[in-house]
Amino acid sequence: MSLKKQYLIANWKMELLPKEERALLEKLPLVLKKKKKSLKVIVCPSFVSLVSATQIKKYSSAIFDVGAQDCHWEERGAYTGEISAKALVSLGCRYVLIGHSERRVHNNEDETVLRNKLQAAFNARLQPIFCIGETRDDRTNGKTLSRLRQQLSSAFSNCTMKRNQLICIAYEPVWSIGSGTPLNADDLTKEIQFIKEWLTTHLSSHPHVVLYGGSVDERSVSNYLSPKTGIDGLLVGSASQSVKRLSKIVSLMSLS
Ligand code: PGA
Repeated sequence: MSLKKQYLIANWKMELLPKEERALLEKLPLVLKKKKKSLKVIVCPSFVSLVSATQIKKYSSAIFDVGAQDCHWEERGAYTGEISAKALVSLGCRYVLIGHSERRVHNNEDETVLRNKLQAAFNARLQPIFCIGETRDDRTNGKTLSRLRQQLSSAFSNCTMKRNQLICIAYEPVWSIGSGTPLNADDLTKEIQFIKEWLTTHLSSHPHVVLYGGSVDERSVSNYLSPKTGIDGLLVGSASQSVKRLSKIVSLMSLS
């Protein structure tokens, strides 16, 4: 990673109860005490804890941002159980995960849905973190880069964005998420370069950051900190869900 801003996104998924999420949020001042300034930490709790998270952010000394794990594509309407990007912004969220493979798989989110969600987030001034990645089969069949190209072009084709809108991509090989097997830091340069080149070619007027996610933990985090990898940060799931592990990751990222 370079000297510029680095990102750490903590995705708590549906792993914790509200009281557990609250306990973790209340420890953030301690967890982030040694955080270097250029490390941007974005915590993505479940929907039910977003209010706690934005309140704690407002009244504590911890410097972090709050992200949601999903949003709907419409601004408002008869969509029982859904939450709009605009509602998230009104709560104080600044980020939203879109296209996470768990939602692509378990909620059948197809390319049209994802494109619409991405647009809704941009319209609401909510910064999307758009997740892409290949399956094990794609990788075995040499189709990793074509899968990434397809996911990027389908999501961003005809997308309307404000000038200078940041594009934030999380590259997460589907087979590595939650598997305990991260993609080796030395092996991801090709994919990261490919994504960056695609963004430079097709969305040239927009700045971008590209993160890696998939089974990163406190033991492997240091491997990703070399500028050689080309990544701008990490999206961490299970290893971000305890005070001890999250503190370790923040300290290691703050050393680099
Ligand atoms: P993991 O999850 O770190 O538990 O593999 C990553 C993710 O949420 O994408």
